[in-house]
Amino acid sequence: MKLIDTLNRPLRDLRISVTDRCNFRCVYCMPKEIFGPDYQFLRRDQILTFEEITRLARIFVGHGVGKIRLTGGEPLVRKDFPQLIAMLSEIPDVDLTLTTNGALLAKNAQTLKDAGLKRVTVSLDSLDNEIFKAMNDVDFPVEKVIEGMDAAVAVGLTPIKVNMVVKRGLNEASILPMARFFREKGYILRFIEYMDVGHTNGWRMNDVVSAKEIVSLIHAEMPLEPLDPNYRGEVAERWRYKDGSGEVGVIASVTQAFCSTCNRARLSAEGSLYTCLFAVKGHDFRDLLRNGATDEEISKQIALVWSKRADRYSELRSENTTSLPKVEMSHIGG
Ligand code: GTP
Ligand code: 5AD
Ligand code: SF4
Ligand code: SF4
Repeated sequence: MKLIDTLNRPLRDLRISVTDRCNFRCVYCMPKEIFGPDYQFLRRDQILTFEEITRLARIFVGHGVGKIRLTGGEPLVRKDFPQLIAMLSEIPDVDLTLTTNGALLAKNAQTLKDAGLKRVTVSLDSLDNEIFKAMNDVDFPVEKVIEGMDAAVAVGLTPIKVNMVVKRGLNEASILPMARFFREKGYILRFIEYMDVGHTNGWRMNDVVSAKEIVSLIHAEMPLEPLDPNYRGEVAERWRYKDGSGEVGVIASVTQAFCSTCNRARLSAEGSLYTCLFAVKGHDFRDLLRNGATDEEISKQIALVWSKRADRYSELRSENTTSLPKVEMSHIGG
């Protein structure tokens, strides 16, 4: 039977966070003052094993999931990560993909491809080293990320997408240089509106550069026209360069919420299922996995959680909701 939630939304997309750790400290995600040397990350025994993740993934696919995206923290810092890809790639009919900051991508691209990964999305917030370093806050250079992207393309992890979070006053000036550069390269660049995920990044509405503003800025120099979505519920709104030189996307989760078609479930590294990026609490599956539950029992539990789902945070967002307790982005991925 088809699984739908209380707002008639199916379950299609599973995002699995494989670690809460990251080698960056992006100011909008893991600010150093909070994620410092004393921060308590999850212990090894608290996070799901590859076998546990794969078992759960298969059960989700049985419920209609057709896309699995691995996230973190930074997935490539998890030990033996390509092994997990190899295990997941054995599940038939799944679009298997990865979101990474690119730092370890050059080194891992071929292994990931060989393990069965289909494509990657790489985050990069500026081409200007001063700005990028101020954002990643670990002095990581732009060139290394681009090297990672190029390596991914060279081994066929395509189409490659690039995610740029835009925060007012920080990297607005990087919008046009990024658009020009990735248009030239033929990589699909998507601009993400800065969101109030978690409660550590001090988000304010004034910090958001709207998708509309971003599109007009690019359009003025490189004319754009709208494109239809690739599939129902696609997060990014697509635009193509009128001269045929490729496309860009904008992810307007603040100014144009897309909850009405949201078919995404998120699994945290310690095995909690979240039905919204802005959820306060997850549903624990690790206990079930470790206490002898059968596949049928786990499957039923997933169905129960999804059938009660009513989340639509971005549609309800206001200055008041921003201060609600929420899970951190680095805990459940983007
Ligand atoms: P493909 O279309 O398969 O390439 O993936 P995607 O468009 O879902 O891309 P990706 O997973 O990289 O998502 C891009 C960004 O959009 C994420 O990193 C988040 O910042 C944001 N995003 C994705 N899903 C949601 C969602 O359900 N809610 C909100 N508010 N933001 C989301
Ligand atoms: N707002 C918007 N996007 C964010 N990301 C991380 N934190 C935020 C935020 N506060 C993005 C990352 C990456 C993806 C996983 O989510 O830059 O591209
Ligand atoms: Fe790490 Fe990605 Fe968060 Fe940056 S946005 S700190 S790269 S998890
Ligand atoms: Fe989905 Fe929640 Fe994002 Fe809305 S805010 S699109 S329900 S994850």
